[in-house]
Amino acid sequence: MPRVLSGIQPSGQLTLGNYIGAMQNFVKLQETHECFFMVVDLHAITVPQEPAALREQTESVASLFVAAGIDPTKASIFAQSHVSAHAELGWLLTTLTYIGELERMTQFKDKSAGKDSVGAGLFVYPALMAADILLYNADLIPVGDDQKQHLELTRDLAQRFNSRYGDYFTIPDPYIPKVGARIMSLDDASKKMSKSNPNPGSYIALLDPPDVIRKKLSRATTDSGREVKYNPAEKPEVSNLMSIYAHCAGVTLSEIETRYEGQGYGAFKKDLAEHVVATLEPLQHKYAEIRSSGAIHDILKQGADEVSEKANRTLRDVKERMGFLLPG
Ligand code: AMP
Ligand code: TRP
Repeated sequence: MPRVLSGIQPSGQLTLGNYIGAMQNFVKLQETHECFFMVVDLHAITVPQEPAALREQTESVASLFVAAGIDPTKASIFAQSHVSAHAELGWLLTTLTYIGELERMTQFKDKSAGKDSVGAGLFVYPALMAADILLYNADLIPVGDDQKQHLELTRDLAQRFNSRYGDYFTIPDPYIPKVGARIMSLDDASKKMSKSNPNPGSYIALLDPPDVIRKKLSRATTDSGREVKYNPAEKPEVSNLMSIYAHCAGVTLSEIETRYEGQGYGAFKKDLAEHVVATLEPLQHKYAEIRSSGAIHDILKQGADEVSEKANRTLRDVKERMGFLLPG
């Protein structure tokens, strides 16, 4: 069975962007693939995190995986730091990575822009992400558009390793949604919707209560004019809201255009809010149940148990190929 792997950082409230760009595909792919879904806590600490908040967010993101429909009997759900092979292979791959490659990463440029001191972890982050993927020889990586560049580096590192030390790693492919790969901010359609935006009105958090969702969407910026038409170049704000609508209501963009022909933005935005609420409400109920049951600890332990053997085997093979003296 082909293998699917992805990860989400426990570094703040997950948003509708994470859900549409990544998690919806996790849920779909678990039916046909062997799946590995991680809470990437080692990635989260590339920017400062409060210890208590990191622990809480790690449990929260894992619980959201389950609440969104990832079934722990079908997919392995685990915390990256519970499988130490990630950090170790991350180091080995860091030594194969060129500074110039890391300097070109747009996520690094964005996250370090204007900062006085930038952690070295933020810089080498893509090598750790490559390790996450290559440890399991994953074939397909469901992510949003912003991760494409990291994935290209992963492919280059896999090829570099294979040509230096003999064919070993599978070269992974990205799996990016056609619509919704980049959900934009509600207040500015030139920026991606992000949990790290200081203005909470710019994103829908997966755990926002229905009234907050309605309020945020009614205040979402819209382009001038009144036509509900998909045209990201000329109508970026409305096109973004249409992508959200299409995902939450399960309809196509042209069906939305037909539905709101001649009606202006008002009716469209009102219905949009109801579709988003209807998508998130069941997830929120399930989330509350999982959190109060405390079951997430067992799910994460089971996940780490399931994947550890495979991860350790890869690490051992890699070390052997690179010339490390194996113990024993
Ligand atoms: P992160 O929150 O950075 O850990 O991202 C987790 C996953 O969600 C990655 O696959 C991202 O590409 C995806 N993602 C994050 N924000 C968005 C967005 N605004 N639109 C689409 N996908 C997103
Ligand atoms: N870098 C990804 C992000 O910020 C998260 C991530 C870490 C990831 N390891 C991964 C995604 C492996 C896919 C596969 O969104």
